[in-house]
Amino acid sequence: MSKIKLQALTGSAVKNRLEIGPGALDFLASTPEAKVLLDRADRYLEAIGYTEHGVRHAKVVAKFARRILEALGKDPHTVELAAIAGYFHDVGNALGRQHHDLAGAFLVKDLLMQYEVPLEDRLIIMEAIANHENERLDVADEVTAAVVIGDKSDVHRTRVRNTEFITFDIHDRVNYAVTRSTVRVDIQKKEIILELEIDTSISSVTEYFEIFLTRMLFSRKAARRLGCGFGILANGVRLA
Ligand SMILES: [Fe+2]
Ligand SMILES: [Fe+2]
Repeated sequence: MSKIKLQALTGSAVKNRLEIGPGALDFLASTPEAKVLLDRADRYLEAIGYTEHGVRHAKVVAKFARRILEALGKDPHTVELAAIAGYFHDVGNALGRQHHDLAGAFLVKDLLMQYEVPLEDRLIIMEAIANHENERLDVADEVTAAVVIGDKSDVHRTRVRNTEFITFDIHDRVNYAVTRSTVRVDIQKKEIILELEIDTSISSVTEYFEIFLTRMLFSRKAARRLGCGFGILANGVRLA
């Protein structure tokens, strides 16, 4: 129901209702609540030694999720739902790493309710957040699919917080070795492609697969939900 229709029915001013469409993520991301959620989540992960999961990661996942659905011709409402879910997908880490997917869905529910986002939109966003780490790799919805691919594709040097190379574990090393990662959609071939530049003097392409095999399988299943294949191009060479 549009804002105008609702006002006409109730005869009273609608104070907080946020229509999900272009600009909705910009609005939500600028709220004080969003800043606290992202900051607390990233602080928790920093304390336990995880890679960067702050505003940079949030923006990248939102951008990739948006790009995928836009390229596939989805309507602006669905595209914005994916961008919002992508931006907030990791805020559950504010309560701890374990079950951060489910926790995040409910933290974001509070934010969405504050701005009177309708139930169905809330559920689509919550489903994507709650399933972005799904161990069975189940992907039931296209918004979830876009968020999963966006999240699993954000591997990058700048996510490594550890500054002492000598103490890098394999995760640090593989992340540090990736100097560029991006996602594009080949609409003709119906394929979503993860493009990587890997500095092979730091980590081998094999190590990348060793660490990220599950991510790749999850991305492939998510791409299938969108009616697409999933491919990887590393240093200009097609790997999958
Ligand atoms: Fe996560
Ligand atoms: Fe993430």
